Amino acid sequence: MNTSKSFYISTPLYYVNDKPHLGTAYTSLIADILNRYQKLFGRSSFFITGTDEHGQKCEQTALKRGLTPQEHCDQMSPQFERAWKSLNINYDLFFRTSFDYHCQAVQTALQSLYDKGDIYSSNYKGWYCVSEEIFYTKKDLVNGKSPTGKEVIPLEEKAWFFKMSKYQKALREHLESHPCFIKPKERQNEIKGFLKQPLQDLCVSRPKKRVSWGVELPFDKNCVAYVWVDALLNYVTGAGYLRNEETFKKYWLEGETAHLIGKDILMTHAVYWPCLLMALNLPLPHTIFAHGWLLNKKDEKMSKSQGDKLDPLELSNLLGLEELRWFLAKEIVLGKDSAISLDLMVQKINEDLADNLGNIFSRVSRLIERNFEGQIPLYKERQDSPLQKLTEDKKKLFKGQIDSFELSQALQSLSGLLVEVNKYLEQTAPWKLVKTDKQKAGLALYNCLEVLRICGILLSPVMPRKMERLLSALGETAVFKNAEWGRLPLGKKLKHPKALFPKILI
Ligand code: ME8
Ligand code: MG
Repeated sequence: MNTSKSFYISTPLYYVNDKPHLGTAYTSLIADILNRYQKLFGRSSFFITGTDEHGQKCEQTALKRGLTPQEHCDQMSPQFERAWKSLNINYDLFFRTSFDYHCQAVQTALQSLYDKGDIYSSNYKGWYCVSEEIFYTKKDLVNGKSPTGKEVIPLEEKAWFFKMSKYQKALREHLESHPCFIKPKERQNEIKGFLKQPLQDLCVSRPKKRVSWGVELPFDKNCVAYVWVDALLNYVTGAGYLRNEETFKKYWLEGETAHLIGKDILMTHAVYWPCLLMALNLPLPHTIFAHGWLLNKKDEKMSKSQGDKLDPLELSNLLGLEELRWFLAKEIVLGKDSAISLDLMVQKINEDLADNLGNIFSRVSRLIERNFEGQIPLYKERQDSPLQKLTEDKKKLFKGQIDSFELSQALQSLSGLLVEVNKYLEQTAPWKLVKTDKQKAGLALYNCLEVLRICGILLSPVMPRKMERLLSALGETAVFKNAEWGRLPLGKKLKHPKALFPKILI
């Protein structure tokens, strides 16, 4: 990654037919962490998340609640905003597709596609899945349902179509020349395979008599825009398209852009969206990263329609917010499906944070308090420590791993380093050594503190508050360039914080 470029990251805009759940919180938390990493690396970055408010699904949910769609959205959308704030998700823009400026930009964009002849009128005959807001043809259906098993309804209506097929060749070429456009690789292959078949044009309208909650088509007052076209455009309208030239240039035209999504919505992001961007003469995102699903005990995708979904706010109260962030970022390989349960979370958090990171910190600081008057030990001569080499080797790889979305691998590597620190403590046994060779004991403790300090910096995007506490005890701040071995000031008084990670007993 080119660090002089600014960074842009988005999550999907979530449907407002239910509250946030652990699945949607997962994407938002990971995007927050990746965004904080780029900030740590010194980049200017922009993080957009929000809610997808138009369409039939929202209209139906509002109707069931006896509300207008706008009232329903105005009640639901802030729940996402509040939940993300409670989870310390530090977005730059919370976007709502019902924003006026967005609706106007959608109209301008669609008008320009119409004017250049990329939108035409025809008859639509096929099926529609309200739950996914996706059009299907007969050959797409599996046992009369959507490929993921959702109900579909037959549709026949006059409609407007976007000439998506016109961009198929260019999209295929883009995939060839940008092997990391869609990540992980399996997902890029999936789309490559899909594009071997002729691409259908995309229906981009819904008649108002069927769905009235949406952006009116500027060239047909009887129709609203298909909700996915409206929603996908958020990625550019949020960045300033047709509104703020400066931010749009900085983040979309010249920045490094990434969409973090779940693999359930790969097709809309990896096919519809790039074709729309090409038609609008706009650059494509650099990366579309489709992560896997959190699975429930029955190995099914956790979803709003299921009873046993986990509530991220309850979990955060139960486990600790930063502990939850750590678990999700480290334990789930970004891109893979992952079965999770409360037991597993407690076990891993206790292992990594209470028994390792937290325990090392409290043992080391206690020993320094007792034997070195709370001052970072002075030692006569410096000796190469195996911990130093290991830390430096891991740190060298770390930024590259984060830049290429290997978040879990990067964190697992640091977690492995902390396991080594624990072993080193056992082997050097400074609590004994201090009686026979105080210098050596001091050096061992110094080495442990150095690893803690560097890990504190490198883990600050995942656990910002606790790492700040750890770093401030060492008189350090979370700046990436400070993550170099040997900066710890000798003789400085250590602040003694209370336990960082108390053991979770459930
Ligand atoms: O699809 N595991 O919104 P949506 C992991 N509005 N991630 C999960 C998950 C799970 N079990 N369940 C949900 C939409 N997610 C559209 C998007 S974008 C222009 C429009 C996450 O509310 C994951 O990111 O159904 C998934 O892609 C997203 O929530 C779907 O959210
Ligand atoms: Mg969904």
